[in-house]
Amino acid sequence: MDDSPDGQWLSGSRVLVTGAAGVLGRALVVEADLRGARVVATGRRPNIDAAQLPEAAIRVTADLRDPDDCQRLVHEAARRLGGLDIVVNNAATLVRRTCLELELDDLQAAWEVNLRAPALIMQASFEYLRDAEHPAIVNVVSTAGVSGGIAAVSAYGMSKAGLIVLTKAVAREYGPHGIRVFSLSPPSLDSEMQRSLPAEQRERVRSMNALDRLAAPEEVARFTLLAASRAGALVTGTMVDLTATAY
Ligand SMILES: NC(=O)c1ccc[n+]([C@@H]2O[C@H](COP(=O)([O-])OP(=O)(O)OC[C@H]3O[C@@H](n4cnc5c(N)ncnc54)[C@H](OP(=O)(O)O)[C@@H]3O)[C@@H](O)[C@H]2O)c1
Repeated sequence: MDDSPDGQWLSGSRVLVTGAAGVLGRALVVEADLRGARVVATGRRPNIDAAQLPEAAIRVTADLRDPDDCQRLVHEAARRLGGLDIVVNNAATLVRRTCLELELDDLQAAWEVNLRAPALIMQASFEYLRDAEHPAIVNVVSTAGVSGGIAAVSAYGMSKAGLIVLTKAVAREYGPHGIRVFSLSPPSLDSEMQRSLPAEQRERVRSMNALDRLAAPEEVARFTLLAASRAGALVTGTMVDLTATAY
């Protein structure tokens, strides 16, 4: 393994990333590719190609609200990569509604995409990861899963809280098989979504970070993959929290 920061420290790794058309997902796919991994990039839209992913990334379309798709995705990824070393459950859905405004489908979508899909993907991945040399699963969570969030994200926060706990349970279960499972809570990302917030809210989000700035998706992607690589050999069960000053 080339351990230099700009080296190919994921050389030979087979990586599955969900939500690859999103802000962080795209950065994860680009970084994994840059570091020498072979990557399956998934999204629900067939035009995921338009999302500026590296040419070498293998695109697989899947709707994570569909349990069969979650399983098919893992088996197809493992078949096309010849196994799996790292799985990143990054996809998520977020609806900005107060608890009083929530509709049944908001709750259902949050549960299905943000919690049930990672559970099914972790289940289906087991048979491949247990054969890998340094296997790891990363579940991307959110400060909303700990604090409840700053504004109208109750369904999202509920699902992320569940994923934080599920991660700990699965880490215990998979640990004896050498598989690490941890969650990662990214700081607020410098994204279109953040830029579209009213100035006052944008300022509030930015000032919650002790560094007084938003994070670039590339910074979070690199750290996430480093922790998932063999450099993070002891990281398991925990929530790696990059937002510690936010609450
Ligand atoms: N952005 C932040 O500041 C921030 C802060 C804390 C935590 N996070 C977490 O970081 C992760 C990535 O966030 P992001 O900002 O990159 O989000 P994003 O840009 O909204 O991307 C989310 C991705 O999830 C996919 N997705 C949603 N529903 C799906 C479904 N039913 N089936 C398959 N894919 C589905 C979306 O696909 P489509 O492209 O088809 O819509 C999209 O590609 C999430 O887990 C989020 O909770 C983000």
